[in-house]
Amino acid sequence: MIVLIGFMGAGKTTVGRALAGRLGVPFRDSDLVIEERAGRPVSQIFAEDGEPAFRDLEHKVIADLLDGSDGVLALGGGAVQRADTRSLLSGVPVVYLRVSHAEAMRRVGGDQGRPMLARPDVARLHAERDPQYAAAATVTIDADASKPEAIAGDILTWLAGGEGGEGGDGGDGGQPAEPA
Ligand code: S3P
Repeated sequence: MIVLIGFMGAGKTTVGRALAGRLGVPFRDSDLVIEERAGRPVSQIFAEDGEPAFRDLEHKVIADLLDGSDGVLALGGGAVQRADTRSLLSGVPVVYLRVSHAEAMRRVGGDQGRPMLARPDVARLHAERDPQYAAAATVTIDADASKPEAIAGDILTWLAGGEGGEGGDGGDGGQPAEPA
């Protein structure tokens, strides 16, 4: 499984679909699986059960998805918040799509379906998470300027062993990883 992480609005789902299409493998999105299991949208789970319950479900879903078949998996932006969820990612190729706070807000700022955006401290959250994403990542790719198809192409190049990202501190210095 190749995992995509990053803040809300980084383009994880769009890039993930493009990448999976080009690799000819299935695409999975942890938020969609959470919604299927809960039978409710993410915003309703937050409103009715609270964030900790959402994070518990998110952890279980990600553990199951990583245990399952191959493909490309996009995680919700807050999946790196919990250490036990981050630890599920060790040994897995993880691509961090880095988006600036300003660009993220431009893309998804008014989205009612993303409860974390309603918080008054979104900028702080963005700043706090950046090093968490970077630490969990095998490779980091700037997602501000490039189009999703171009980013998917960069990831394919990286998987094939060429340049494509800035490397990362995920343990192998950004060296190519097996797409499995
Ligand atoms: C969240 C991001 C969302 C979703 C939930 C919480 C977060 O996913 O998991 O609303 O804490 O950043 P996206 O990053 O796909 O928007």
